[in-house]
Amino acid sequence: MGAQVHGAQSFDAAKRGKIVFSEDAMNTVKKIMSRYPEGRTKSALIPVLHVAQAEFGGWLSPEVMDYVASVLKIEPIEVFEVASFYTMFNLKPVGKVVIEVCQTSSCWLNGAEDIVKYIEKKLHIKVGETSSDGMFTLKVAECLGSCGTAPMMQCGASFHENLTYEKVDKILADYKADGRLRSYTDKDYKNTL
Ligand code: FES
Repeated sequence: MGAQVHGAQSFDAAKRGKIVFSEDAMNTVKKIMSRYPEGRTKSALIPVLHVAQAEFGGWLSPEVMDYVASVLKIEPIEVFEVASFYTMFNLKPVGKVVIEVCQTSSCWLNGAEDIVKYIEKKLHIKVGETSSDGMFTLKVAECLGSCGTAPMMQCGASFHENLTYEKVDKILADYKADGRLRSYTDKDYKNTL
């Protein structure tokens, strides 16, 4: 069952200031919103959700979605409908690095299934689960547009292509050593969202 929108209770929490964008993130949100005419702020929802997901631990809690609704001056259910539709938004806590292994035809023909099994065994998790150290969540995804370099996986804004077991070992070791949360907005989102 998907996340529930708790309406008034969590909205109050947002208004009390428990969930507030940092100054930097708010500046980005304002810049995104400024692209749309007065009263059409809903059009900014998807890029603003990306900022929120990066800002609040890699996932969108009901409270965060309510906060985004309050910032955009739209209804919380409108935020939930969009956030729950797109697989790029996480509605439950995830690891600092979400691994999305493409499983569509080109990747599948080039060993994506074996890559998934390898990561499952290496991290002692199944698809949809998070490693016990809170570092990695494993997902599968449909075609990510990098079919010529199959098999591939996406971690936040980074594509990792022509995967082998050895490459996977190195990639995961590097992320673990770095320890940072990765998001779709990593590549200077101020200029790209
Ligand atoms: S099939 Fe995997 S990126 Fe297209």
